[in-house]
Amino acid sequence: MPTLRSASRGLQSPKKISESDSTTPTKKRSSPRSKETDALVCSSPTSPPSDDVFGKVAKCKIISSPRSSRKRLYGDEPTQGNKWNLKDPAQMKAVKEALHLATVPTSVACRVGEQNKIFDLCKEYFEKERAGSLYVCGCPGTGKTLSLEKVKNKLLTWSKEMGYEEPDSLSINCTSLTNTSEIFSKILQMFEKTCIGLTPLQRLQHIFSQKSSPRRMMLIIVDEMDYLITRDRSVLHDLFMLTTLPFSRCILIGIANAIDLADRFLPKLASLNCKPHVITFRAYNKDQIYEIIQERLKGLGYDVFDALALEYCARKVAAASGDMRKALAVCRSAVELLEADLRDSCELQEFHSVTFDHMDKALSKAFKPKIVDTILSLPLHQQIILYAIVNLFSQSKKSSTTVGELNRTYNETWRSIHRNKRTAIGAVEFTNMCQGLSDQGLLKLGQSKEEKSRRIALTVDSSDIAYAFKGNRFFEDCKHSEE
Ligand SMILES: Nc1ncnc2c1ncn2[C@@H]1O[C@H](COP(=O)(O)OP(=O)(O)OP(=O)(O)O)[C@@H](O)[C@H]1O
Ligand SMILES: [Mg+2]
Repeated sequence: MPTLRSASRGLQSPKKISESDSTTPTKKRSSPRSKETDALVCSSPTSPPSDDVFGKVAKCKIISSPRSSRKRLYGDEPTQGNKWNLKDPAQMKAVKEALHLATVPTSVACRVGEQNKIFDLCKEYFEKERAGSLYVCGCPGTGKTLSLEKVKNKLLTWSKEMGYEEPDSLSINCTSLTNTSEIFSKILQMFEKTCIGLTPLQRLQHIFSQKSSPRRMMLIIVDEMDYLITRDRSVLHDLFMLTTLPFSRCILIGIANAIDLADRFLPKLASLNCKPHVITFRAYNKDQIYEIIQERLKGLGYDVFDALALEYCARKVAAASGDMRKALAVCRSAVELLEADLRDSCELQEFHSVTFDHMDKALSKAFKPKIVDTILSLPLHQQIILYAIVNLFSQSKKSSTTVGELNRTYNETWRSIHRNKRTAIGAVEFTNMCQGLSDQGLLKLGQSKEEKSRRIALTVDSSDIAYAFKGNRFFEDCKHSEE
């Protein structure tokens, strides 16, 4: 099977990846992804306490046979680790689970600093028996939810060890609320089931203003807090103001993607005397993505990825978004491609790990440009015209041609595909096809007295066209017959 690199070989030189290579712009997630995943993540059991609060050594829960810590940085020589027995379905299952979003790693690599900071602030509130608030923000997939669950578990264990009264804890994902003010009913459930006469917010305000209010501390984690933003932001203000009431013992931690949310609502919260501490989770860089995946796989006892393949994934995802969710998805997809290769391969090819080519294909799939779908949905003749134009430009090093010249290249391509068995379309139909491509914004068709002299140039990147035809047997056969 060809890869993006091999597919574009005949068409243009392979694209080099670099730090700035960004096929998919970083964007804030607007629609919620599967919250089932988050629910599963949140259900993780408490990890055992240790002096190193959020120890760097991570092991996935599914792992049964831990092996000694081995740090492998890319650029190093491949390690002499145990070989992955790809014929063992249990090993394959373990790999997939270790890379699954719902699998909770026992510790969170590369987020020790952030977790310690949050833990220390919460600890201080505990020790002083006073309320307070934190605002945790960062791009999607930067480990906020995961880290906060770890901090919560750690705090519960720590408070027990210190002999404090067990705090109440509540994690709310705002995407599950039917309306923004439902957040107050959820918090109120920590105290009682009913609320007669007063609104849930008023009831909470009343409780936190009474001397008789519960003295135990409360940890409330409000995830996906962006969903609470109303036009006047009153819900957000009311929520944070709960921590200012005289008998409140509430540690409120809001988590959101919006980094600028803090700028937008902090001044007001400062004026209301409830400005939260802000902790920002920066997008993962390539080294961190590499390390996190290695950590998640560490306990398996065998190498899953070739070092170069993993490095490629880390670089590409870091350049695009630094989203760990994306990195894990690409890695899983690369494993599935390896699995498919093992199933389909007629040759008895020996694989012991995911290769660079598998990763290349998985990344190409994950970062597929939108234009590729448009190209793939075109009628065959128009696809052949695009294929012909890319070939023509790549051979002649030109960036434009005429309808007449392209028609000749198209005819040659057609003949090589159909081995002269079928007749190509006529000149008029050919121009109509080109016009159609121009109407779809795929090429530019100039004006001229003579149809065949009209100039044609591509308006899309030729590498996108090459990519669209990658692995397409029709065009691959044509390429081979040209060679
Ligand atoms: N440091 C890490 N170590 C291991 N796995 C990680 C790490 N960071 C993130 N992940 C994994 O990446 C996925 C996304 O992480 P998480 O849900 O914590 O991100 P998030 O910052 O809360 O994203 P969002 O803003 O979209 O809610 C999870 O499956 C998580 O297990
Ligand atoms: Mg999250």
